[in-house]
Amino acid sequence: MPVITTIQDLKDIYKRRVPKMFYDYCESGSWTEQTFRENVSDFEKIRLRQKVAVDLTNRSTATQMIGQDVSMPVALAPVGLTGMQCPDGEIKAAKAAEKFGVPYTLSTMSICSIEDVAANTTKPFWFQLYVMKDRDYINALIDRAKAANCSALVLTFDLQILGQRHKDIKNGLTAPPKITIPNMIDIAMRQRWAWGMLATKRRGFGNVVGHAQGADNLRSLGEWTASQFDLSLNWDDIQWIKDRWGGKLIIKGILDKEDARRAADSGADALIVSNHGGRQLDGALSSIRMLPDIVDAVGKDIEVHVDGGIRSGQDVLKAVALGAKGVMIGRSYIYGLGAMGEAGVTAALEVIHKELDTTMALCGERLLSDLGRDNLLLPPDFDAGYYS
Ligand code: GLV
Repeated sequence: MPVITTIQDLKDIYKRRVPKMFYDYCESGSWTEQTFRENVSDFEKIRLRQKVAVDLTNRSTATQMIGQDVSMPVALAPVGLTGMQCPDGEIKAAKAAEKFGVPYTLSTMSICSIEDVAANTTKPFWFQLYVMKDRDYINALIDRAKAANCSALVLTFDLQILGQRHKDIKNGLTAPPKITIPNMIDIAMRQRWAWGMLATKRRGFGNVVGHAQGADNLRSLGEWTASQFDLSLNWDDIQWIKDRWGGKLIIKGILDKEDARRAADSGADALIVSNHGGRQLDGALSSIRMLPDIVDAVGKDIEVHVDGGIRSGQDVLKAVALGAKGVMIGRSYIYGLGAMGEAGVTAALEVIHKELDTTMALCGERLLSDLGRDNLLLPPDFDAGYYS
């Protein structure tokens, strides 16, 4: 077993083990990928204040997200096609998350279905909802999440239309991959992945195929999004979704103060500051850069979470110090999953937890609730360097 000490270690193995088409799907932003890159590089601009000679006994990274106990403030983000990164990937990631004591979020566009993940786990997970035109299907999907005892609905608001990711088009991304000569050559080099995929039945979009009309031959996320996602989705829709769901609601994809105010006024339990991992509006600012403004605007009225660019426990600490009650990681755990299955997700969580705990100590703090902007050194205009 290789010695894993960083998320990059997992990424290196992941790149070797998973077909290029799925590596590229994960490791892409839209168009020029500026926002995708800056989600990561903007974290590097934030520096930490070292404080010494503080009693560091009884430290803890435990806290709550939307009132649920978590061992650290890190949830696994919804990632489409996770079961193509690793056979039965959603089940494996959910198992690792529940053992670690952090929430797992299942994507609408997952490979394993809601029912399948529920049957193979013991604790409630979160379910991410894309709203499609077919309202009967969406109502039934919300009911399925309820029946599976999901403990939060994560309503994604930033993907009614898909930002273009060039590599997915060039690779002809589908789940499962089409039988073409280049695909077969690529898969032949990833034996572990190929045997695992042959051994599982879970190779299509489990929440959709057999449930939504016209989805029986569904293989392409891009085509499905373009033809089925509801372009008319707007703030007024939150009410019927809330009424149907009746549980904790999180709105994902907020990157603007005015939208944050609407999310807070909608009565949702949390919002996620997010640009969808740089996969939607290329040219938007990074999530971490938008976080302080949004926390200042609505932090008293709604719990604020953030995702995008988090690759270490230091990044988690920076987000919490800027006012996030929790973060979501996507790529950081997908690298682990593609590299080593459930054990790889656990490794990713362990890396991040250890970095968070030690860094908090070196900042002279024992509890996450004691972290604040005072622990950071920010460059001038970090949160307000641009004008609208
Ligand atoms: C879907 O959510 C995607 O970003 O590909």
